[in-house]
Amino acid sequence: MRILFLNGPNLNLLGTREPGIYGRQTLSDIEARVRAEASVVGATVEFRQTNHEGELVTWIQQAMSGWDVVVLNAAAYTHSSIALRDAIAGSGVPVIEVHLSNVHSRETFRHHSMIAGVCRGVIAGFGPESYILALRAAVTLTDGQK
Ligand code: DQA
Repeated sequence: MRILFLNGPNLNLLGTREPGIYGRQTLSDIEARVRAEASVVGATVEFRQTNHEGELVTWIQQAMSGWDVVVLNAAAYTHSSIALRDAIAGSGVPVIEVHLSNVHSRETFRHHSMIAGVCRGVIAGFGPESYILALRAAVTLTDGQK
């Protein structure tokens, strides 16, 4: 099973970015935790980060060939990007929306997700553990396809 983790803008700053909200772990720390868990469940994972909306769109389009599930933290593009929504809807690959913070307990502009309606599910509010929960959800999804 192959799971692609895509991370959007400003997530490269994790560790120093608003630690009261996002904690002190870097994206590399989170990747290491995901890789450790992936080896337990027998999944192949890849982690990518970009600050560019179009790059996320391209990666989601490309995920059709070669990846079973995409775990997507679209960061701020979650709340604004029709292009990402269209890419997810058009790609056919199951996408799990993930967030470190509980977006529903924050500013009202974070309460709406442009992409949730075309994702298989949403996990938010558990810090780095959100990524582990998303990995487990991805495994469950692919098990269901067998
Ligand atoms: C985030 C939540 C978004 O609202 C925010 O723009 C981010 C990170 C999260 O993981 O909690 O950049 O996606």
